[in-house]
Amino acid sequence: MGSVLRMVSPLSTMEGPGFGGAPRRRSSTVAAPTGTVVLVFTEVQGSTRLWEQCSGGMRAALDIHDRVLRALLAEHGGYEVKTQGDSFMVAFPSAVEAVCWCLRTQQELLRAPWPEELLAEPDAAEELGPGGCVYRGLRVRMGVHLGEPECRLDAQTGEVDYFGRVVNVAARVASAGQGGQVLVSGMAWARVEGELEVLGRPRVHALGEYHLQGVEEAVSLVEVLPAALVGRRFEALRVQRVLRGHVPGETGELIGRQEELAELRRCFDSGARLVTLLGPGGMGKSRLATRFGNLELAARTWEGGVWMCELTDAATVGDICHAVGQALGVALTRSGEDSEPAERLGRALAGRGDVLLIVDNVEHVIQHLPATLGRWRALAPQARFLVTSRESLLLPEERVIDLEPLEVPEEGETCKELMAAAMRCGCSSSAPGRCAAASS
Ligand SMILES: Nc1ncnc2c1ncn2[C@@H]1O[C@H](COP(=O)(O)OP(=O)(O)O)[C@@H](O)[C@H]1O
Ligand SMILES: [Mg+2]
Repeated sequence: MGSVLRMVSPLSTMEGPGFGGAPRRRSSTVAAPTGTVVLVFTEVQGSTRLWEQCSGGMRAALDIHDRVLRALLAEHGGYEVKTQGDSFMVAFPSAVEAVCWCLRTQQELLRAPWPEELLAEPDAAEELGPGGCVYRGLRVRMGVHLGEPECRLDAQTGEVDYFGRVVNVAARVASAGQGGQVLVSGMAWARVEGELEVLGRPRVHALGEYHLQGVEEAVSLVEVLPAALVGRRFEALRVQRVLRGHVPGETGELIGRQEELAELRRCFDSGARLVTLLGPGGMGKSRLATRFGNLELAARTWEGGVWMCELTDAATVGDICHAVGQALGVALTRSGEDSEPAERLGRALAGRGDVLLIVDNVEHVIQHLPATLGRWRALAPQARFLVTSRESLLLPEERVIDLEPLEVPEEGETCKELMAAAMRCGCSSSAPGRCAAASS
């Protein structure tokens, strides 16, 4: 990753190890990274209120907080850029080290000798989860992001500081979270996700994409928690989630199919990860899938969005990935890391969290589905799929809705009348579809 600029802080001798009345000054002897830099911002939750309620306790608590954060910095190659109020800005040359520092610091904070006065405050009180203590003392939110910031020497301090968009995004990532939460931007997470063992197998939760204040592009966020702290429960992030997706529009009324729409909803409500709308050509599979997609998009219930694509012109695994990549807005090239486009799409889907992908017309590429859809199911455990096909996919845990034809209007009855009748009774004029596990 990035190189390092040799800097030794003039303040480096001001603090020793252990707890005590330390000055709030940086103590970094670590070299400042340059090039691709991983930035971490931290912030204490509810500090204004805590200062109001117990200023004496807060003074001691802040010293303790500073000590804990600094204690592990050198070990992980973290360069303390600066502090502002109770916030730290730290730079690492490695994303894995940055996340490791966050996770270890979260655990160390629990064990710190917080003043009793502070622990009596609701914002800093001890809380027990099923596996033990999950909160105790100051609750620190942390945000990790990476990029190539502008590096400058501060004229006054002679220290290296960072500027530019990366810095702003990193600060916003941190402030999006709740106290005790570690958020990692999708870009930083791409450097970390293969190293979960090194990180002590933390719990990872892809939260979807968010609008960060003043940041034009949506940023995908991943929550990472040490395995020992999985009992922590967080409120919603403090930023607006992007509810995105794309499903083609429809023209004309949909006749009937209300029961099938309800059946689809029931399938996903009951945890189905792969549903196939089955039926011969012209049965209305695409139309029904499109309607379902539009309803789900409008309901805004899928945090990762609802996306639809169709595979009529696809013949190979590459074609399938290209079509799905286009629908998801994931640019795939045929070189470098994209030599395995199915893997890349699986990771992209995983980064979107709770997402519905609708794939229309798969019958002529069924032989390629284990290498595409099958991989995506494995790589993106929260992603769910609706496909339309003339044949069952015969994939494990596939649920099949067998479409029956719409009833043919009786003599003298026009299609319009049939539609009106269907709308009057609020149900389909056709037999209801069946949602069942495929018999493979
Ligand atoms: N329930 C419906 N209401 C109105 N039009 C429908 C309905 N089902 C299908 N159609 C129309 O019938 C045609 C064939 O349906 P389509 O969904 O493309 O079938 P399939 O995907 O099963 O081959 C399309 O023009 C579609 O808009
Ligand atoms: Mg079709």
